Amino acid sequence: MGELTLELGAVLLLALGLKGLAKIRTARAANGLAALALLLAVAGLLLQQGFDGWPWMLLGLGVGGGLGALLAFKVAMTAMPETVALFNGCGGLSSLLVAIGAAQLPTPLDLLGQVSVLASVLVGAITFSGSLVAMGKLQEWLGTPGWTQKPQRHAINITLAVASLVCCGLVLKGMAVALIPLTVLSLLLGVGLTLPVGGADMPVVISLLNSYSGVAAAAAGFVVGSELLIVAGAMVGAAGLILTQVMCTAMNRSLTSVLFGGAMGAAPAAGADGAKDEGYKNVTSCSAEECALTLEAAERVVFVPGYGLAVAQAQHSLKELAKLLEQQGIAVSYAIHPVAGRMPGHMNVLLAEADVPYDQLIEMDAINPEFPRTDVVIVLGANDVVNPRAKSDPGSPLYGMPVLEVDQARSVFVVKRSLGSGYAGIRNDLFELPQTSMVFGDAKQVLQTLLQELRALGVGKVPAGAGAGR
Ligand code: TAP
Repeated sequence: MGELTLELGAVLLLALGLKGLAKIRTARAANGLAALALLLAVAGLLLQQGFDGWPWMLLGLGVGGGLGALLAFKVAMTAMPETVALFNGCGGLSSLLVAIGAAQLPTPLDLLGQVSVLASVLVGAITFSGSLVAMGKLQEWLGTPGWTQKPQRHAINITLAVASLVCCGLVLKGMAVALIPLTVLSLLLGVGLTLPVGGADMPVVISLLNSYSGVAAAAAGFVVGSELLIVAGAMVGAAGLILTQVMCTAMNRSLTSVLFGGAMGAAPAAGADGAKDEGYKNVTSCSAEECALTLEAAERVVFVPGYGLAVAQAQHSLKELAKLLEQQGIAVSYAIHPVAGRMPGHMNVLLAEADVPYDQLIEMDAINPEFPRTDVVIVLGANDVVNPRAKSDPGSPLYGMPVLEVDQARSVFVVKRSLGSGYAGIRNDLFELPQTSMVFGDAKQVLQTLLQELRALGVGKVPAGAGAGR
């Protein structure tokens, strides 16, 4: 009875936690609720199963908890997508191991148990190897080999999938040893499905792998007879699938084109920080001082944060600048593109870290109509998400991806270190528009110079209300 109450409590807390994660304001507390849910789940399981082998449990808890805590302190915000990929992979691996372990037990499994073991091994192995490949690609340890772009890769993957299903059939017929080739084939299938996917599509793949890890966990729940694991796995599977759909919509890509359409932006992904100038001819650059003069005279300013802002860790300087402008009566907001940065919600988390008020973060659909009425847009380390080429060039890998229409504003300042391309590896037409000025430099340094210049101009020192006439 006690364990049932604990499990029920855990399911409820988990559902509340997942719901709370949908809003920035509640996300941190929601994460705590989900962690508490897992603690209750473990307590419930121990009450149910007894404490046999507790030294092993303590060892597992210590090693897992220790590694988790170490990662939480050590991993930089910019490396979160790789970390999430690794966590997904660990989820897949544990489901795989649980299923293989259950298959070795002397008690024979019924049909549901056998099917669950097969699903757990198949999906768990695909999730594990696919996540490792995704992590390697995001870390730029792995590229996209040319052969993976040839249509023959579909034949290889189909062969692997069919062979895996044959192994499943053999296991069901009583040939338990077929679990070994099934595991190997599924691991290869995970690699075969993820390796061809390139640069700009990686966020979609990560959230899809997240969904797979949930499916594998749910299947493992059937294997060990844990309702909690089934519910939690199903929730993660569904949430991952919804996130995948949201990401696809944000990038204007269909899931089938992501998975089977070949690499988009694969080759140049490594050029995210590259120094290629892409043959620009009519670029205007200006100093932070000139930018400060335009800012001083503005009424409405929109900041567009991107991956480079996270790299430069310039969120606190940005918040300081925004505060100064507001003291001058200038309206300030932040335009948030759904795939700016390297993970879903990257910019929201980054700005929340600097205590930027949530109501100043405006989503793409709401801010785009505001750009024609905006005096100054400052693009900080963003590139692909403000590239007008996504609307004008059908040959571009970004074509069709909705972008922030900053080119509609009166003045645009793009703060970045060079004319190098963004994640998709293509030139950006925004840099050559007459209203655009490039401010070359590290985002944090430029923001700090801007702060100094504005202070020297007396910005922020006007008495309260003096800016009201703007
Ligand atoms: P990007 O297009 O990647 O551009 C980032 C820019 O930041 C680069 O062009 C780089 O130019 C600049 N930069 C780097 N370090 C800087 C620094 N210290 N100071 C100033 N600038 C710096 O970024 P974005 O506009 O945010 O777009 C995100 C892209 O990543 C999209 O293509 C998206 O599909 C993809 N992606 C997104 C996700 C998710 S879920 N958000 C995950 C994976 C991939 P310089 O080198 O010239 O400075």
